[in-house]
Amino acid sequence: MADENTKIKIMELREIMKAPTEDILSDQVKDLPQPPLEKSFKGKKIIPLTKNFEDVIKNNDFLSLINARTSKRKYNEEALTQYELSFLLWSTQGIKSIVGKERKATFRTVPSAGARHPFETYLFINKVIGLQPGLYHYMATEHQLEYLGSIENQAEQVSEAFGGQNFFANAPVGFVWSVIPYRTEWRYSNHAQKYALVDVGHVCENLYLSCEAIQCGACAIGAYNQPLADKLLGFDTSPSADKEAEFVVYAAAVGKVDGN
Ligand SMILES: Cc1cc2nc3c(=O)[nH]c(=O)nc-3n(C[C@H](O)[C@H](O)[C@H](O)COP(=O)(O)O)c2cc1C
Repeated sequence: MADENTKIKIMELREIMKAPTEDILSDQVKDLPQPPLEKSFKGKKIIPLTKNFEDVIKNNDFLSLINARTSKRKYNEEALTQYELSFLLWSTQGIKSIVGKERKATFRTVPSAGARHPFETYLFINKVIGLQPGLYHYMATEHQLEYLGSIENQAEQVSEAFGGQNFFANAPVGFVWSVIPYRTEWRYSNHAQKYALVDVGHVCENLYLSCEAIQCGACAIGAYNQPLADKLLGFDTSPSADKEAEFVVYAAAVGKVDGN
């Protein structure tokens, strides 16, 4: 039974699951500048990605993909190819078009409230053909990867930050989605937090289904240590980060699985 303080906290937190009733005067309405569509690190090394997925898809049967989807935590020894990784990045955050002149919006392979898309995708890579292990960032507007650097004792550090879940730390690829809340708050103020959390579910579901299509398996990761995960990714979590604040919101392990 939850103690009194926990109960109060639960009641407060439930409010985020509801649609707020009061009107909002968002920064967009106040005509404040729109935040950038994406982050760029100008990484040490840029890896171009393909959008030609014809040879990557192994199963195109939609109903069978839906039925086959489960959380898969055991992977075989095979490395992913860059084509396969490219497909997974495209299907989770790929940009199909950019609209607007001063105020821009991206339309992607996943929906997002108000087309705000408040996420960045980072990868812990262990086993992808032609890519050295380490931390990478997906540049959605260019459909490119940027290499951010190696992580000392990667498996140990990732495991520690992600709840001791070794299958995630040792998976060929660990997807990590960060949220930059202000991208959605700029438009939706205090309605934004619920929207962003709903949005990220779409991203991960596309990952699950896309993995099934290319004989990979995925497992969502919601259990992680927030301060350790944010530190590992180098995020500034101080209150002064304000509109630039960014933190880990969700993750998923990906690897190759044996066929039927
Ligand atoms: C939001 C969320 C967080 C999750 N976190 C974890 C996790 O940290 N570790 C894990 O092994 N599975 C995690 N899962 C996977 C669930 O355990 C799994 O979806 C559930 O047991 C149902 O099984 P299925 O996905 O095979 O249908 C998570 C799933 C979701 C949707």
